[in-house]
Amino acid sequence: MAMIRKALSMSLATVMTFGLLGLVAYTLDGSAVRQALGITPALDVPYVESRRNTVEAMLDMADVTAEERVIDLGTGDGRILIAAARDYGARGVGVDLDPTLVEEARANAAAEGLAERVEFREEDLFDTPLADADVVTMFLLPEVNMRLRPRLLEELRPGTRIVSNRFDMGDWRPDEVRRVSGYPVYLWIVPADVRGRWMLQVDGREIVLELEQAFQDLTGEATIDGEPALVTGEVRGEQVRLEFPVGGEERVFEGAVQGGRIGPTDGSTWQAVRRTD
Ligand SMILES: C[S@@+](CC[C@H](N)C(=O)[O-])C[C@H]1O[C@@H](n2cnc3c(N)ncnc32)[C@H](O)[C@@H]1O
Repeated sequence: MAMIRKALSMSLATVMTFGLLGLVAYTLDGSAVRQALGITPALDVPYVESRRNTVEAMLDMADVTAEERVIDLGTGDGRILIAAARDYGARGVGVDLDPTLVEEARANAAAEGLAERVEFREEDLFDTPLADADVVTMFLLPEVNMRLRPRLLEELRPGTRIVSNRFDMGDWRPDEVRRVSGYPVYLWIVPADVRGRWMLQVDGREIVLELEQAFQDLTGEATIDGEPALVTGEVRGEQVRLEFPVGGEERVFEGAVQGGRIGPTDGSTWQAVRRTD
């Protein structure tokens, strides 16, 4: 009974989010029937395929390169991961709770001669280890993205790219959005965590920075010769950009963070060191 209720509510969610065509695809695919009969575990997202041009846009936005590791959450028939391996030489793992789709994905990869490069696992995406991904791909639902968000931010290395077909991640502003066949495709680049106190040395001055961070956006205060100044900035992976006035002149500091140090990437001579006091 609980399975039938879950399948019915999933059908309603499918109509509301993917439209009637989504429901037709979901039912014809048999997922609803398999779930109602308890053959397939209850899914958090119904099976709806990404279109070919959407897959192309996702991989282009993620800037996938050869040998990079792609983790495809809710892989369906494996089309995103298979395209990443076939068109970009990537490797990776795709996970799905539906065993029929996992079998289909394996068969599709084998048919393209890619079985050595991609692995498909029957697994709950909430249990998938994420830490070694270079790229994470997904076509899920807004609430599923939001449930995943804390793990994406905590477990993925700075610079890891996340691409999502159609659904965003709330107030985590995407780094890029493209519209493909009328629907958005989102890209986020996992930002390094630079919150806290830094000592920045520039032009013989020592400047204390107190940085606050909301995803990739930085705000804070610089104390320069005892005087406070407002800091704004941005983090894109390990790239950091800070702006604040020094000696009456607006300065821009562009650098990269490595451990407890931010160093310039534009040939200038400042450096910032994390303070723990
Ligand atoms: C909208 S489909 C996307 C399929 C494919 N990624 C694509 O873009 O064509 C979502 C997929 O997530 C799978 N799914 C739903 N809940 C899941 C869960 N908790 N763990 C793993 N896969 C899940 C479904 O079986 C379905 O294949």
